[in-house]
Amino acid sequence: MSNSNTLVLGATGKTGRRVAARLRLRGTPVRAASRSSETRFDWSDPGSWDAALRDIAAAYVVAPFVPGPAHEFVARAEAAGVRRLVLLSGRGADTWGDSAFGLDMRSAEEAVRGSSLEWTVLRPSNFAQNFDEDVFHAPLVAGELALPAGPVPEPFIDIDDVADAAAKVLAEPGKHAGRVYELTGPRAITFGEAVELISRASGKPMTYKQISPAEYTATLVEAGLSEEDAHHVAEMFVLMERWLLAVTTDDLATLLGRAPRTFEDYVVRAAAAGAWPR
Ligand SMILES: NC(=O)c1ccc[n+]([C@@H]2O[C@H](COP(=O)([O-])OP(=O)(O)OC[C@H]3O[C@@H](n4cnc5c(N)ncnc54)[C@H](OP(=O)(O)O)[C@@H]3O)[C@@H](O)[C@H]2O)c1
Repeated sequence: MSNSNTLVLGATGKTGRRVAARLRLRGTPVRAASRSSETRFDWSDPGSWDAALRDIAAAYVVAPFVPGPAHEFVARAEAAGVRRLVLLSGRGADTWGDSAFGLDMRSAEEAVRGSSLEWTVLRPSNFAQNFDEDVFHAPLVAGELALPAGPVPEPFIDIDDVADAAAKVLAEPGKHAGRVYELTGPRAITFGEAVELISRASGKPMTYKQISPAEYTATLVEAGLSEEDAHHVAEMFVLMERWLLAVTTDDLATLLGRAPRTFEDYVVRAAAAGAWPR
């Protein structure tokens, strides 16, 4: 097979759409897939997988939100002649122990790392863009972010760096086989400091409030999550308290040959784009 088609799962999501844009820019044929993408791909409908995998050389894989389906997906990818998989996982996934957090990502890692294909795993820290494109955005717009995070800092990573890393790995067959990259931002800051920086750059008064994991779980349930899902999300903050995820790494700089983008750089760009109106 001599095709260079790249399948991008989660193609409408925060990382997938950035990865797809980078690949297209460099002339790589991209098949963008998700439930609402041009190529329909649904983790809960295995009947949608084979068409997405046809004539694909490499795939960027965003894990399904439940453990399990990635194993069958990898078997189908092998059968379809896919050669390489690049999986998005999470920082320190092998240190999460018996935590209920990230069972989905850990199951996908097991499937990808156990495959006969060339694989690479990307394990980024919490995304900076969670503050303007995801779960922390609405509370900030309302003026207060309340989370079960205290003095333990987090090396937030800019998703544009995650996408740069994924695009580079996808562009270099053979160079990153069997590698696990722990990707972090250049400096760890607390959630309180993050909110302070966002408030200053946007000119909008915002506060950060530390609450307990139980209070946070209750907030998430009120917002519509199941008890189980809410507990799993809150568990991430319990993991952070162990300090294991707070340490920065050099993996991104080694991979890209440049320093990671700073949180301040992210905040200025997002504020200028109107992410947090006054
Ligand atoms: N947020 C963080 O700080 C962070 C840090 C490290 C790792 N991660 C991991 O990153 C992953 C999420 O990646 P992301 O932030 O790029 O995505 P995202 O912004 O959360 O978007 C989710 C993507 O998955 C697609 N999707 C949702 N349900 C699907 C289904 N049943 N079948 C197929 N596709 C489905 C969505 O598109 P459709 O709606 O069109 O299907 C969308 O493209 C998760 O595994 C998360 O654990 C996140």
